Amino acid sequence: MKKISLTGIKPTGELHIGNYFGAIKQALELAKEYDARYFIADYHALNSLKDPAELQSTIRHVAAGWLAAGLNPEEVIFYRQSSIPEVFELTTMLMAFTSKGLMNRAHAYKAMVDVNNSKGEDPDAGVNIGLFTYPVLMAADIILFDSDVVPVGHDQKQHIEMAQDIAQSVNANYGRDVLKIPQAAIQENVAVIPGLDGRKMSKSYGNTIPLFAPEKTLRKIIMRIVTNSQSVEEPKDPEACQVFKLYKLFASEQEQNELAARYRAGGMGWGEAKEELFQKTNRLLTPMREHYDAIMSDIPALDKILEMGAAKARPIAAATVNRFRKAAGID
Ligand code: TRP
Repeated sequence: MKKISLTGIKPTGELHIGNYFGAIKQALELAKEYDARYFIADYHALNSLKDPAELQSTIRHVAAGWLAAGLNPEEVIFYRQSSIPEVFELTTMLMAFTSKGLMNRAHAYKAMVDVNNSKGEDPDAGVNIGLFTYPVLMAADIILFDSDVVPVGHDQKQHIEMAQDIAQSVNANYGRDVLKIPQAAIQENVAVIPGLDGRKMSKSYGNTIPLFAPEKTLRKIIMRIVTNSQSVEEPKDPEACQVFKLYKLFASEQEQNELAARYRAGGMGWGEAKEELFQKTNRLLTPMREHYDAIMSDIPALDKILEMGAAKARPIAAATVNRFRKAAGID
């Protein structure tokens, strides 16, 4: 039997090429080796996203985006967290085994408390209980599906350790393996994708290149990449240039060598380099964009795909909750 992998996708904003090359592409590779599950963590997003229209459209955008990027809903299980009521039942059960002290140590919560303290405010100002108990909900997401591995970035490592701690307290209490202990697969060597200004591409820096922007917009955005003031004639160092760093993501090795040679020879201006980047970016993104647009033009069909995933997920979830309820004496 294949091992189970689980990936949670928090729908918080417009997908960009940093998301694609930094997370989505690797996550989709897992489907080759694992019995892979992917879900949209919409209740996690609710902690910070309170505008209903925005949350609704972000959920659909992100779901369509992963499908357009290659997620095959026939082959994997792809669902919305909110479609699986057992997530919330398990969360409640896990809370009984989670010490408040463990939650006090969660990085995301501690960071908010630190900011409040530094401003001389109430330490818990602006902290909702959803944020405070976020790690329990995440543990439930994971444990519910008997996940063996959870591939996450470094920032999520502590959450996985907390899920392990919580599951272990349950097993220790009942003296047997009621819940499976998940393992983190930390993605260590994920490339940092540079944004338009050379800093890490991130929504919070406003330096992103959206994955599904129309061709014209994509070109305009690429032309905004910040470059230095070297003249056209001057030879240029490809490795010191974010246009080239981005080009590497989209071009073959031969194409990379050719463009690097043009950089070094001089006589090529930044506008030309960006045009080359646009061509290669557009070559990869056009089929994805077309797929995305097709999915978004039929929202009921998209919702059906997610419902089909939920129908596959719910029996698995129910089995875990039943096992736990039996162990607990709530059967
Ligand atoms: N907390 C994760 C993030 O912010 C999203 C997430 C929610 C998740 N539940 C999960 C990731 C379960 C992996 C497994 O990116």
